[in-house]
Amino acid sequence: MLQELLKQLAYRCGFSLRRMRGVKTHGDGAGSARLGNDGEALRQAIHALDPYAGFAHEAIAFDARGWGSQSPAFGKLVERIRPRLIIEVGTWKGASAIEMAEQLERLGLTSSKILCIDTWLGALEMWGDHTDRDRYGSLDLKHGYPQLYYQFLANICHKGLQQRVIPFPLPSVTAAQWLSLRGVRAELIYLDGSHEEEDVYADLTDFWDLLAAGGVLFGDDYAWTGVKMAVDRFSTQHRLQLQHLEDKWWLAKAA
Ligand SMILES: C[S@@+](CC[C@H](N)C(=O)[O-])C[C@H]1O[C@@H](n2cnc3c(N)ncnc32)[C@H](O)[C@@H]1O
Repeated sequence: MLQELLKQLAYRCGFSLRRMRGVKTHGDGAGSARLGNDGEALRQAIHALDPYAGFAHEAIAFDARGWGSQSPAFGKLVERIRPRLIIEVGTWKGASAIEMAEQLERLGLTSSKILCIDTWLGALEMWGDHTDRDRYGSLDLKHGYPQLYYQFLANICHKGLQQRVIPFPLPSVTAAQWLSLRGVRAELIYLDGSHEEEDVYADLTDFWDLLAAGGVLFGDDYAWTGVKMAVDRFSTQHRLQLQHLEDKWWLAKAA
């Protein structure tokens, strides 16, 4: 009773108890195997059926226009970390996932996987301007609901990356809870989902916990005010050294 009252009070004052404690869920994950960085086991745990099976990707032309996917930071970090598992939060049409997949290919890391977390419903800035073909237009609304996911799926098929890339179509907060319950740990995590300060801070908090020791958490758009505020706050609070390359920022976890 008292605890519930305190919780209500904290929420009214703008705090979330969940945020104070880190990722906590009511599921206990009992009986689930701890997946660690095993991408193949992760794929099987998420998808009972292969999401690419029977998908007619030839009907959708390749179009992976996105933002910031050509940065040298991808090659540099993939080469430094040589990850078995990469988690990406915010995939859109798949440009950055494809770039990281190509870097894994270049390094001969044939069994490494990339988990792509996205609702494929767009971020706040994509729903503002109906004349913006790259953002609102690319959502590709059918009866009011985005079809963007199918463009992403087609792009992955056009590049022949179905074995590499695992789609996980959930809000990042829910995906983080699921991954936490299954004991997933990735060596490289890329954040490029919501750019609103509190959302970025929540993603930092949730996905830092999912980062393996010795791993790197990095992200896009440091010049974006919400991103900068959240990244600065998180790195200061946790006494982490913030590093930059062009518009990418990253934080390394102690080994
Ligand atoms: C800037 S785009 C990602 C761009 C992509 N990395 C690229 O290389 O082009 C942001 C993406 O984050 C997704 N997104 C925004 N908020 C999210 C959330 N809370 N959970 C999951 N996905 C989210 C949007 O649907 C959108 O596809």
